[in-house]
Parts: sequence; C-alpha cells; structure tokens
Amino acid sequence: MPKVRIQQHELECRTGENLRELLVRFDLVPEAGSQWGTCKGAIGCGTCKLKVKGTIAAYEKEQGLVVKELNNEQIYSCKARVISDIEICG
Ligand code: FES
Repeated sequence: MPKVRIQQHELECRTGENLRELLVRFDLVPEAGSQWGTCKGAIGCGTCKLKVKGTIAAYEKEQGLVVKELNNEQIYSCKARVISDIEICG
C-alpha cells in the first residue's frame, strides 16, 4: 500500500486511489474553500493543485493516464492517482 506524506501526516491508501479523494477523506484538503473546488475534478478551477515529489499516475489531455516522476512539481490532485510513496511539498 503506497504512503502519502503531507505535513506531519503519513497516509496509507490503495494503489491507484485518487489523490484528491484521499486528502478529502482525511480532511487534509490544503486550500481554503470547498472540498472539491468549483470544477469538481474537471481541471477547470486549479484549486486542487499540489507540489509533489515521487511517481504518480496522472491524466493528461489526449494521452490518458500517464506515469510521471515528479520532483516538487505541480499536479492537479483531482486527476492524479497514487501508485507509489509520494510526498506533498506544497
Ligand atoms: S478540482 Fe478543479 S482543477 Fe481539480
């Protein structure tokens, strides 16, 4: 089971779990405002953006699900799936 580190927390999740849903489940949505942002996962509002270190699977326009190695880079957490241990940096 992959682990997600955020602040002082270490969360275990299912492989392939949606990152945004995981953070909502643990009440760790990093930004103020509504839990799901205004677009509800349609990559329209950007309120779910996070900086991540580690390997993650993310939906890319026209490419579908793509595995990406991130080093403190921003992703849309509503379109990201946890496939290995990661750290959320901001
Ligand atoms: S929830 Fe709006 S872009 Fe992710």
